[in-house]
Amino acid sequence: MQESAGPVHVAVIMDGNGRWARERGLPRGKGHEAGADSVRAVVRACRDHGVRYLTLYAFSVENWKRPRSEVHGLMQLLRRFMDKEEHLLHEQQIRLRIMGRLEDLPKAVQKKLTRVMEDTAHYDAGQLILALSYGARTEIATAARRIAEKVRARKIDPEEIDESLFGEHLYIPDVPDPDLMIRTSGEMRLSNFMLWQLSYAELYTTPVLWPDFREKQFTEALEAYRLRDRRYGGLSTQPPKEHASC
Ligand code: IPE
Ligand code: IPE
Ligand code: MG
Repeated sequence: MQESAGPVHVAVIMDGNGRWARERGLPRGKGHEAGADSVRAVVRACRDHGVRYLTLYAFSVENWKRPRSEVHGLMQLLRRFMDKEEHLLHEQQIRLRIMGRLEDLPKAVQKKLTRVMEDTAHYDAGQLILALSYGARTEIATAARRIAEKVRARKIDPEEIDESLFGEHLYIPDVPDPDLMIRTSGEMRLSNFMLWQLSYAELYTTPVLWPDFREKQFTEALEAYRLRDRRYGGLSTQPPKEHASC
């Protein structure tokens, strides 16, 4: 089969940290720590494979329901991760962006992330987008509210509202839609992740738990993507497969 180009934007639902820890008789926090090593590995792999945008679902709006101790541990880990790995962004000229309700995060985490976003805003070798306190329905409802406010202020005529205008009111409108969405740990659901932007993404799921998902597994996902035939509702651009004659 003809291979297509690699994805420009990869989005990942990093799932399975808790199960990884449980399998080893460890507290869930240890799974999240091991998951942070996978983040580092995948960021590096993106550079090597020419993936320009990497979006990582790190904390959903629904994840606030978890025990306070786990939420606290995740927020601390995020801060430590930024302290330890910020240099990687500078070395690789990667811009950090946040997608979600940044205002929900603890003040110290907000401050840290805002500073790193500002310091990396001019880089253009790639973008690392962290989905934090993110929910796709919240994002879509917020976009609808922003548009309604502009209609009320007579800045937008309702006739002008189309897919493109709507998309411009989402969190990070200048980023192209993901080409490939990877979910680890074998779950077959979107869990409120990028419902608008994933409309035509290729979906790839693997039973591998996130802390075990490293460069090798990422490369396998990219190989699977290259074999997909993206038709967007049209007809195949692939040459017809040869059928064995009966
Ligand atoms: C993903 O791993 C990390 C976050 C959602 C923050 P989980 O913590 O969901 O791990 P499982 O699904 O319980 O194994
Ligand atoms: C999705 O994982 C959210 C993140 C990876 C941050 P969850 O573990 O929260 O999803 P569900 O609860 O299994 O749907
Ligand atoms: Mg999970």
